[in-house]
Amino acid sequence: MAKVTVVGAGNVGATCAHSLLRLKLADVVLIDIDEGLTKGKALDLSQAGVIEGFTDKITGGSDYRASADSDVVVVTAGLPRRPGMSREELLDKNARIICEVIQRSLDTSPEATIIVLTNPLDLMAYLAYRVSGLDAQRVIGMGGVLDTARFKRFIASEVGVNPADVEAMVIGAHSDSMVPLASLAKVDGKALTSLISPDARVFQKERTKGGGAEIVSHLKQGSAFYAPGAAAAHMVGAILLGDKRITPASVFAGGAYGIDGLYIGLPVTLDLSGVLEIVELQLSPVEQEALLSSAKEIEAGLTALGRWFS
Ligand code: LAC
Repeated sequence: MAKVTVVGAGNVGATCAHSLLRLKLADVVLIDIDEGLTKGKALDLSQAGVIEGFTDKITGGSDYRASADSDVVVVTAGLPRRPGMSREELLDKNARIICEVIQRSLDTSPEATIIVLTNPLDLMAYLAYRVSGLDAQRVIGMGGVLDTARFKRFIASEVGVNPADVEAMVIGAHSDSMVPLASLAKVDGKALTSLISPDARVFQKERTKGGGAEIVSHLKQGSAFYAPGAAAAHMVGAILLGDKRITPASVFAGGAYGIDGLYIGLPVTLDLSGVLEIVELQLSPVEQEALLSSAKEIEAGLTALGRWFS
């Protein structure tokens, strides 16, 4: 049986644990500095399993020894965005948390592949990679699965179909500069460009880019958690099953798409060793340019991150 640790027992972490259990993928350990939160949620989830029919073990605690020898560690710890707060403003507070969580996780699970959800996502994934000392392929950020889900949801509503019939992907930074690939999107095998007007496409792309902020503005406190938690569990599934499905994820772009030296959302295949390969899609010239300017934005953020590693 695989073992997955979820660090951070807030809404995202607990939802991720729930999704993992429902997918019957692994025993799950919830870790948080608030031990009561992990114990209460683990107990509650184990009882949900009686009703929902999942039986893998779920335990909680604040001692990383309980998470020893995990195959995958999902890092959700960190402060969420508040209304009006940019993901970048979170940088300093969350950088401190990432450094500590990565070090402690690797002390007990040196073989784990790591998935980072903490914002600002692409910067925190890069920081996790740098402080971990691991190969870049073993440290992956979750942003693209979530952004892609939002894009598919909006396209499906616009066209009036089931999201399962929509093929689409969002790459680039997990920020306003993300790149929803409208040129490659299809509904029931038909090009999206032939189904909805350019104005409608722009509208759905813009709504996707603001997808996280739209939810923050409704919730007033905190940010989205159902889809982010499910998205992380989906990535764990891709890693554990190694089924080669193409998944957008924040990875180290070692020259792919003309980008190097940073983490950014790109289409990849995953397996237990992490990133198997980066898949090069044929982007439109406008999308390729947008991807490069998204990379520039991340690069600017890296300067502020430098003091966290040598
Ligand atoms: C979002 C936050 C979690 O996109 O990044 O909802």
